[in-house]
Amino acid sequence: MSADDFRRHAHALADFIADYHERIVREAPVLSAVAPGEVMGQLPSHAPESGESWDDILGDVGDRILPALTHWQSPNFFGYFPANASYPAMLAEFLCAGLGVQGMLWQTSPACTELEQRVLDWLAHAIGLPEAFTFRPEASGPASGGSGGTSGGSRGGGTSGQSSGGGGVIQGTASEATLVAMVSARARARGQLGDDARLIAYTSEQAHSSVMKAAMIAGIGRDNLRLIPTDSALAMDPDALRSRIEADLRSGLRPFFLCATLGTTSTGAFDPVDALGSIAQEHAMWHHIDAAWAGSAAICPEHRGWMCGVERADSFCFNPHKWLLTNFDCSAYWTRDRAALLDALSITPEYLRNQASDAGAVVDYRDWQIPLGRRFRAIKLWFVMRHYGLEGLRAHIRRHIALAEQFERWVRADDRFEIAQPRSLSLVTFRLRADDDANRRLLNALNDTGKLFLTHTVVPTIASPQTPRFVLRLAIGSTHTAHEHVERAWECIRAETDRIQR
Ligand SMILES: Cc1ncc(COP(=O)(O)O)c(C=O)c1O
Repeated sequence: MSADDFRRHAHALADFIADYHERIVREAPVLSAVAPGEVMGQLPSHAPESGESWDDILGDVGDRILPALTHWQSPNFFGYFPANASYPAMLAEFLCAGLGVQGMLWQTSPACTELEQRVLDWLAHAIGLPEAFTFRPEASGPASGGSGGTSGGSRGGGTSGQSSGGGGVIQGTASEATLVAMVSARARARGQLGDDARLIAYTSEQAHSSVMKAAMIAGIGRDNLRLIPTDSALAMDPDALRSRIEADLRSGLRPFFLCATLGTTSTGAFDPVDALGSIAQEHAMWHHIDAAWAGSAAICPEHRGWMCGVERADSFCFNPHKWLLTNFDCSAYWTRDRAALLDALSITPEYLRNQASDAGAVVDYRDWQIPLGRRFRAIKLWFVMRHYGLEGLRAHIRRHIALAEQFERWVRADDRFEIAQPRSLSLVTFRLRADDDANRRLLNALNDTGKLFLTHTVVPTIASPQTPRFVLRLAIGSTHTAHEHVERAWECIRAETDRIQR
């Protein structure tokens, strides 16, 4: 493809993407109607020997791929948690591919590393994370007074070398962040306790499955991860944690890692990180906080009360790719203890050595993550934060929370329904006052309409604190979701309820 062809196709592709977004805002369905294997069946079993025309390739995207997509960016997508997107972040993805940078070392692209350091500091300040998690303590000057661009704003100092203090890094996912936290904790614990200690990790029964996966990958093992019971709000019970740690200590085991969740996947519950942090400190455990979804809301000062105690954590993670207008993948991870992270992950073969790294003057992000290679993802956050500004990002979060409040009022006003657990930010959990089977049928009927997409969970509810119930979740977070979409979702829920109860 020549540069001129590229220019032409890139313009056409931008139109294609903009048209796609306009269409999914106007039109349902959210889910694809294809059967398993149908897409594969339409694709040749071998790659073409001769190159094909660009028109044919793009034509197939329209004919074979789009019909088989779940439209995550549809304003009627209310399932799981969102994986939102925005035009500035899409342009950044395009630029990232265009520059083709691989930023494993500072030397392999200084801007890739230093921009990431700077935007992670910006983001830490924006969500109220303490200075200890940043590269540049406030004492050495203001973070950045202005746009961060070429005009205005004070400039920061040096790059902060590798080995001590805090700082942030972009991981692909919150699952990788939890794994990185766990192996950092393991390195620190092994340094203090030796290799023979049997290390025990703790999280709540409501924690995301990625914590268990991290224990499996890190060699801690399923049996050595304790799932601590939760209270009636489905938040980790500190007394239960304390009792379990004491029992483990009596058996000669060594607590080393605690993962608290701010905004659990099922219901958006918040673990009491203040109380949990004290327990972690008492037992010299690494305290990681997984705020994968809810962390975005902390950009609004009125929505960060639950961050109280975060200053005692060792690491913190949230996903701008869920709810902060930044396309997947972008998971922000901060630690206040770089030394433990480097202990766990740093390894320097001869072929990666270079003067800047050897001098300890730079951050080499290969030492902060599982893979060696890395994309220039910081450019996404940089574009998003500069395009919207913190005020724009706050408005985005506030708009979704206001929509969820409205939806919650509608549910409460219809006595066929009950709120399952208190609304958490933009997540509403609700159910029919009926058995689980009726709720399951309602969910399937709703998703079959194609007009919206919801998912479910099974948890204890306000009305049924002892017995877990099938619960519908409405998670608002798609960039295009507006009042009319939530209103239509509620109309659809009422209509389908009428139909299945008839
Ligand atoms: C609380 C929580 N932690 C972790 C994850 C996993 O996120 P990721 O896909 O970024 O690994 C999720 C996903 O929804 C989540 O809700």
